[in-house]
Amino acid sequence: MSKIKFLLLPLFCFLLSAAPTRAGEGMWLPQLLQALNEGDMQTMGMKLTAEQIYSVNQGSLKDAIVHFGGFCTAEVISDQGLILTNHHCGFSEIQSHTTLENNYLRDGFWATNKADEKMNPGLYAKFIVRIDDVTKSILTGTEPGMTKEERQSVIDRNKNKLTANFKKESYQEVEIRPFFKGNQYFQFITVSYPDVRLVGAPPSSIGKFGADTDNWEWPRHTGDFSLFRIYSDENGLPAEPSADNIPYKPKHSLPISLDGVEEGDFTMVFGFPGRTDEYLPAAAVEQIMVVTDPAKIAIRDKALKIVDGYMRSDEEIKIKYASKFASIANGWKKWIGEVQGLEKTNALQKKRDYEAEFTRRLQEAKKEYDPRYAGLLPEFDKLYAASAADAKAAAYQSEITGRNVELLRVAGLMRRLTSAYENNGEAGYNNFKARLNNYLTGFYKDYVPAVDQDVFAALIEMYATDLEGKYVAPEVRTAVTNAGGSYADYAKNLYANSKFTSQKAVAGLLAQDPKAAVEAMKNDPAYKLISAIQDHYNATTAPAYDAFQTRVEEMMRLYMQAQKKVYAEKTFYPDANSTMRVTYGQVAGYEPRDAVIYKNKTYLDGVIAKYVPGDYEFDLPKKLLDLHAAKDYGRYAEVVDGEEKVPVCFLGSNHTTGGNSGSPAIDANGNLIGLNFDRVWEGTMSDINYDRSICRNIMVDIRYVLFIIDKYAGAEALIEEMNLVHPKKGK
Ligand code: ARG
Ligand code: ASP
Repeated sequence: MSKIKFLLLPLFCFLLSAAPTRAGEGMWLPQLLQALNEGDMQTMGMKLTAEQIYSVNQGSLKDAIVHFGGFCTAEVISDQGLILTNHHCGFSEIQSHTTLENNYLRDGFWATNKADEKMNPGLYAKFIVRIDDVTKSILTGTEPGMTKEERQSVIDRNKNKLTANFKKESYQEVEIRPFFKGNQYFQFITVSYPDVRLVGAPPSSIGKFGADTDNWEWPRHTGDFSLFRIYSDENGLPAEPSADNIPYKPKHSLPISLDGVEEGDFTMVFGFPGRTDEYLPAAAVEQIMVVTDPAKIAIRDKALKIVDGYMRSDEEIKIKYASKFASIANGWKKWIGEVQGLEKTNALQKKRDYEAEFTRRLQEAKKEYDPRYAGLLPEFDKLYAASAADAKAAAYQSEITGRNVELLRVAGLMRRLTSAYENNGEAGYNNFKARLNNYLTGFYKDYVPAVDQDVFAALIEMYATDLEGKYVAPEVRTAVTNAGGSYADYAKNLYANSKFTSQKAVAGLLAQDPKAAVEAMKNDPAYKLISAIQDHYNATTAPAYDAFQTRVEEMMRLYMQAQKKVYAEKTFYPDANSTMRVTYGQVAGYEPRDAVIYKNKTYLDGVIAKYVPGDYEFDLPKKLLDLHAAKDYGRYAEVVDGEEKVPVCFLGSNHTTGGNSGSPAIDANGNLIGLNFDRVWEGTMSDINYDRSICRNIMVDIRYVLFIIDKYAGAEALIEEMNLVHPKKGK
């Protein structure tokens, strides 16, 4: 550390503690900002009105935000439908156009003109037209004493009625979604555009720089962005992918600020957060911390080590497994951070204190609360304690058969095909088969049986040895015994004898008439194995575990309602559920551990400092090194201590989660300043218990995005489409 920095440190500490970050927690519904948040946001520096963020009458910020494929967020940044999202959000599209000859994952891709932009069937961009509270209509006719099924059927009937009667344009869709665990319902009118084309992506050495080592961590140096374009028919309406379509003309596109950010600046992140669980009882949090997260981590730990070994030694396997590996590693690392963060912030004790106060208020209450409230917490404690072993078995089951062992996943699908035949005859069979064939084409393109076989051997051993005996299907034990006790030999036999490891063999199998195909599938050893595991689970674990989950769901609805009543002074926000939300905070560093302080921003110098030539995660393209050496930064640098530096990533106290990737970071005036893509490791427990001391979201500075598009890729035409502004300089 340089002397000057050392001297400044105490001052910096003082600043951090004297100006604690404000707001942060909360993922708010955009149509309720006016009622709940506008004042707070303006106090924090926002210059916009709630109406400028969300309006049904005129173009507003919300009209520039799309749900990207249903799993990420993207924003419109030009009046020709250009949208910006993360590299990791566009990853499977980039990968799908990648071959060994045209290696867009490795080298990047830049369409030189619109005709070069690449179609992605199946991908869509969804806009939100309006959001309305429909709780009354949806809950009409539900009664407290109803069973889950009874209640659901009333709700479904109400939903259908409401949807059928709603006057909308033919290209619009109506979605009705539960909030606050089913205590409130909102209706969303949406428009989805199914022609979304790939426009540009940096090489992975920029877009995924630091890969899994840096994932979920700060300081970060990743240019995690990619560009797409929405196409519409000639009237601006949604149309299936076609060469006749034209670039979409948006109601609003975000101006882009070149002025950068400083500690304390107002930030807002607008997007589609996927899922959070902020209102769980302590007993549930404890189960996550000591049972389910550790179980999932342990399994992925094993699987990832094996796949990683193959990927490092074989370029083709690296391409085939890149996307699958990234997604499995992503969850694995998040859970590790989650458990650590929950421990570090004493989340469990805080929940217990919150519950003690809840109970105290119930007991002291002069007014009448629903008498059922009092029984909730003791029952949660009892149910969670009793379900721990089942929960572990369920986590193993889904991680092993549903996620990490590819052969078992395919065998599971074959099993569904045979039951489609048995339950719905040839029509059911053919219907499922058509979808299956589609899936299998993509699946086999990226399948390497040797990799999967090793994963299988390791995970089936965990299944057979880690779980209590009663959870293990006897067939598995027998098979291992028959293989002389060797899991590797067991795997070898299975993979040599199952037809499902070969695309050709499966095609041959499915070419037969349905009856013969079903017969043949049922004789496959992988089919027999998945059947044994699933049947055993269904007989031993599922009945009690499913009942537990149903009961907990019912109780959570009541507990949510109870928390809102008993803590009436708090403003509650609903858990994320993949609907549009706004979160706001400030640009802010943090203190991850005693005596360690993280600043809020990283620079290109830091990227170069991490450079490891030829490395699988930290290599860099020569062009970027050259630009840095020549300090050829265009207008994208800022001056730090008299020196020009290109900003790369920055931190904020915005409350985000998975699905917020690709969300715009917006300044006080409504300009784009960054692109959300991650959170810091210590703070991933924000999904369960947000703590403003260590929860931070990570954004790419928009100037790095522009620098790469302009100076690195030379895609000036794209820059020209955008509206670059200087709000701090009054321009
Ligand atoms: N952690 C981020 C998110 O949850 C980014 C994941 C993509 N990157 C990766 N190396 N796996 O999606
Ligand atoms: N990386 C996440 C995403 O893909 C964002 C997060 O979990 O913070 O949505």
